[in-house]
Amino acid sequence: MISQEMNDSLTLVGKGSDAGEVLRRYWQPAALSDELTAGRPVVPVRLLGEDLVLFRDSEGKLGLIGRRCPHRGADMCFGRLEDNGLRCPFHGWHFNRDGQCVEQPGEPEGSRMHEQIQTASYPAVEKNGIVWAYMGPGEPPAFPDFDCFRAPDTHVFAFKGLWECNWLQALEVGIDPAHASFLHRFLQDEDPADSYGKQFRDTAANTDVPMTKLLRDYPRPEISADETDYGLKITALRHLDDGRTHVRVTNQIFPEAICIPMSREMTITQWHVPIDDHNCYWYSMFTSFDKPVDKVRMREQRLKEHRLPDYAPLKNARNTYGYDPKEQETQTYTGMGLDINVHDQWAVESMGAIQDRTEEHLGKTDVGIIRYRRMLRAAIAALKEGRETALPMLGEVDPATIHGPVSNDSIADADAESGAALEAATAASDAERRAACPWDARI
Ligand code: FES
Ligand SMILES: [Fe+2]
Repeated sequence: MISQEMNDSLTLVGKGSDAGEVLRRYWQPAALSDELTAGRPVVPVRLLGEDLVLFRDSEGKLGLIGRRCPHRGADMCFGRLEDNGLRCPFHGWHFNRDGQCVEQPGEPEGSRMHEQIQTASYPAVEKNGIVWAYMGPGEPPAFPDFDCFRAPDTHVFAFKGLWECNWLQALEVGIDPAHASFLHRFLQDEDPADSYGKQFRDTAANTDVPMTKLLRDYPRPEISADETDYGLKITALRHLDDGRTHVRVTNQIFPEAICIPMSREMTITQWHVPIDDHNCYWYSMFTSFDKPVDKVRMREQRLKEHRLPDYAPLKNARNTYGYDPKEQETQTYTGMGLDINVHDQWAVESMGAIQDRTEEHLGKTDVGIIRYRRMLRAAIAALKEGRETALPMLGEVDPATIHGPVSNDSIADADAESGAALEAATAASDAERRAACPWDARI
């Protein structure tokens, strides 16, 4: 349990708020590249409680500026894309991609008033299917050398989905390895051969045991969370009946991402990005270490579950997430179908818009969450003391030297009881994947 004051400090994201200021020190996913190519390249973006408009100008460059026209507040999303900027249709004020007003065609000839008019503007760059925005002060930080950024565009597929809850509880489901044995339990196993593009449907590393069976049969993982340059490395051990140990390594990437294995071929790096205090998007980068990603198929799979243009899931609180008590008895733990994203969505949305952490009771398996909150509190304190470089990846370690992160499932032999031996099993299966990877995934 934490105090209400602490809960506010860790969850609220507006300008000047504790967590909001930490998040503003990092690149944030603002839109999918697909959103800019689907039609006119002008899309509304609500990010960290700020209303913005993202556009691609005639030179192909990105602009991310305030949504409300500084004249009298009209919506710039309906602006005219002209002359490397956006022109408000109300009185024609024209803004360049840096947010500077460069023309006020209705004002008297020779007026220089426009020189004083500036709207919000933030740097935006595109990387492997996502447009990233930097909303903090000073120069944006360098991107770390993570696999999802290093892999060629052919090997990364990006998608997003709306969750109607605060970002922190969305993130916390991803650093809680215990829930997979329950929330995502399938009472029967599917054929792993039919697993493409889905999570937890492959066989467990070097075995013919479906992941679904392993998670179901071993519901009491031993979990540890260790601080790293990028955030947390979270290890979940499941001690199998034959003496071997299943080792699952996942990661928290500071401040609001996770990196987890999806299958032996792919990892998922997923940001939980605040739209505002009460809503967030997950942005996933599915990164293949083997064949190019079948983007058409993966997009189709996900578009069956989401509507455009806001990427809202078709199953949601308003239709009880498709809950079917019969299915809950016979097929799945939740009764909400086979898409594990819906399970997570129900879990985090059903807590309420902002989870009331004054009433929670964390157990031993919540160690990832406990360690993460400690890191976030330390980052908030460091910013308040002006020690910005004490934040992860913002100074003490060169981001170009931060790789991976290693994220996989492996099986350690019966005699591998020590921590070092378990780590060796993870390292060996990671090295095998990287050695066979068609792009340069060496670390
Ligand atoms: S409100 Fe935009 S130009 Fe007047
Ligand atoms: Fe989950």
